Amino acid sequence: MNEQQLEEARLSCEQIIDRVAEAFVGNRLLLRKLLAAALANGHVLFEDYPGLGKTLLAKLFSRAIGGDTKRVQFTPDLLPSDILGMNIYRQTDGTFHLMQGPVFTNVLLADEINRAPPKTQSALLEAMEERQVTIDGDTMPLGSPFVVIATQNPIEQEGTYPLPEAQLDRFLLKLATGYPANDQLEEDILLRRIQWQKDDPSADLEPAVELERFVELQQFVETGVYTDKVIVEYITRIVRLSREHPRVAVGASPRGGLALLRAARAMALIHGRDFVVPDDVKMVVPDVLAHRVILNIEDTLEGASGEGVVEEVLAEVPVPSDMGRMAQ
Ligand SMILES: Nc1ncnc2c1ncn2[C@@H]1O[C@H](COP(=O)(O)OP(=O)(O)OP(=O)(O)O)[C@@H](O)[C@H]1O
Ligand SMILES: [Mg+2]
Repeated sequence: MNEQQLEEARLSCEQIIDRVAEAFVGNRLLLRKLLAAALANGHVLFEDYPGLGKTLLAKLFSRAIGGDTKRVQFTPDLLPSDILGMNIYRQTDGTFHLMQGPVFTNVLLADEINRAPPKTQSALLEAMEERQVTIDGDTMPLGSPFVVIATQNPIEQEGTYPLPEAQLDRFLLKLATGYPANDQLEEDILLRRIQWQKDDPSADLEPAVELERFVELQQFVETGVYTDKVIVEYITRIVRLSREHPRVAVGASPRGGLALLRAARAMALIHGRDFVVPDDVKMVVPDVLAHRVILNIEDTLEGASGEGVVEEVLAEVPVPSDMGRMAQ
């Protein structure tokens, strides 16, 4: 990537974020993280209380990157074939033909994912990991990009099937939209609603980029962002320390380390750099790692959280300062 391509990439990223922010009231850092995950070809889980804009944000984002979107509301009676699709017998010519499920799309909004039984969840999680599905023995690749944005709310326990830790690992980032940070933002939500004259403004949102451009940005992240050895060492120390923390029963897997690397490289591109700096890593550590560590039961009961432990780990690892080597 030359200087100009890099600057254009940064601008494209800004345009995507600006477009989402036209309708979504919230901090830009959250939008940057969502974009970083998608640029790194990763999936995102939003966990937060009801009514905090999770579904809205997912819809706006998929519009903004110019992709095809499908939405599945997860319910207790949802079947794997409702997501993947199935072969249907056609009586007119006596043949079977595939009816593709909603998973054949660019952005799949899996709303309230913890309401579906484990068998259905795992059908989706398998598709997320392998980026292909097998129906009646035929294997078919999924779209490119293929990004799942799943939502779940943490308070409703009845009739939910919490995602097992092993499956949480499939999500590159776990994010929360959070409450509006001040009175002004709270007011903004109302004012925008008055301006839209409808509940859901996402259908009117013009894409900020074409899908091909988005795929090109993904390519830049994969091939054009340099990661110095000191960054690799930094990530390695963070991941390894997450396993040694006294409150941790099971630490982050190597997949967790790879996830940090991917998210950090995407962050570098969003900031218009073709090399990763320690801040790119730091910025995403809690979102990448907190849902991948399993704490000891006693510590959980005492109120310890994955976020807290990961913050402690991050504070303990020295930040590399050898910037000269990094920017080569
Ligand atoms: N930050 C925000 N910016 C703009 N609108 C918002 C925001 N937060 C909430 N809203 C509005 O509040 C309503 C509820 O949002 P939404 O349906 O996205 O919530 P949710 O987090 O998906 O809730 P649930 O967990 O119940 O599914 C929507 O009409 C949305 O427009
Ligand atoms: Mg919702």
